[in-house]
Amino acid sequence: MPTEAAFSWPREFVWGVSTSSYQIEGAVAEDGRAPSIWDTRCRMAGKIANGDSGDVACDHYHRYPQDVALMRELGIGAYRFSVAWPRVLPRGRGQVNEKGLDFYDRLIDAVLAAGIEPWLCLYHWDLPQALDDLGGWTNRDCAGWYADYAALIARRFGDRVQRWATFNEFSVFTLFGYAIDWSAPGVTDRDAHLRAIHHVNLAHGLGVGVLRDLLPQASIGAIHNRQVVWPEQDCDADRAAAALLDEHWNRAFPDPQLLGHYPPQIAAAIEPYVRGGDMATICRRLDWFGLNHYGPIFAKADPQCTWNFAWGEAPADAPRSALGWPTWPAAFRDELIDLSRRYRLPIYVTENGAGGSDSVGADGAVDDPARVAYLRDYTGALREALQAGADVRGYFVWSLLDNFEWGSGYGPRFGLVHVDYTTQQRTPKTSFGWYRAFIRDARG
Ligand code: NOJ
Repeated sequence: MPTEAAFSWPREFVWGVSTSSYQIEGAVAEDGRAPSIWDTRCRMAGKIANGDSGDVACDHYHRYPQDVALMRELGIGAYRFSVAWPRVLPRGRGQVNEKGLDFYDRLIDAVLAAGIEPWLCLYHWDLPQALDDLGGWTNRDCAGWYADYAALIARRFGDRVQRWATFNEFSVFTLFGYAIDWSAPGVTDRDAHLRAIHHVNLAHGLGVGVLRDLLPQASIGAIHNRQVVWPEQDCDADRAAAALLDEHWNRAFPDPQLLGHYPPQIAAAIEPYVRGGDMATICRRLDWFGLNHYGPIFAKADPQCTWNFAWGEAPADAPRSALGWPTWPAAFRDELIDLSRRYRLPIYVTENGAGGSDSVGADGAVDDPARVAYLRDYTGALREALQAGADVRGYFVWSLLDNFEWGSGYGPRFGLVHVDYTTQQRTPKTSFGWYRAFIRDARG
């Protein structure tokens, strides 16, 4: 293995940041956008911390030029964002909202003009409410609606966007949205969850087909959350819970998409929803694997839960981010190495980062040493993975800006840039300067 001194990052290694539509855009009722399932959830009492919503968020819809200027200052080579389906197709299908498309036109042009490559993710959880009214992902037709939406976006932006992701974190929005009431639409039902898993996999496969047909030169991937699942206690019940959560969290989507079959326990349960030819639709050639990774997760048995597993506690002495999430850079290194062998695709780390409760100091600065330490340690693990032969081609920090952290509202802050939600003032944090210097050094 080369020594640290001998190591240099590959010249073409992609350094970027990621965001998502509902978490930053705001302007939820502007220029023809219709509600998504997250707008609905934010109106439900008790679902979001502090009663927060994405109504205004970072007001990125209006302030995107300033945000792109920050990206340029950061020196990134790539920006991952998502398109809000209900902004461009307010009813989810049918009538197109030109003003919604115009926004992404302006954004993509601004990103390109800043010398940054846009990475477009088609789905980061904001399903049009009108489609959920028809059953959403529990309705098999949703896969076709998604494919039509993908075609619209491909036709409109395919001349300028080369990098396409079908979905972000498949297993998080299906598990939390249909089995555990942590996400929209907030269903807790085993069969609904199984249907959602299969229909989202179908949507992915159909979407890849549409993108390949319309954009033969495009580079197409999908973005998966994966992290090691450890049992809370060293006992049979928790080990079984961890094994099942591992199937749901880490394999329910990449296995069928890339290996052509579901993992064993899910395969047995999902069979009633799988029709002849489905697995061939789902399993399509991809160009890259997007990995979102934060830290290890812990599972415990809980017969009250839809799947008999629940989130367990990390050991009291486990290292944690300022937000309290367990951190373990070696598990990230090992994940990258395993992933490279398991699916044999180039990997892009499409999200990695740390949450905290950063605030503006008396001097006007925002100092976030814990995030700097996290990024230093995790990029160190990334380097070790490359040295061990993992085929990793890029790394995106979550996130450019503090933003709406779903059910946790605006409390947890993940940005390299602090956002004052009252004034919308942006203040680059210490970690912003750290990442800028890091990228500069990495490029040599
Ligand atoms: C995963 C999600 O893709 C993103 O939306 C979320 O804010 C971050 N991780 C942090 O939880």
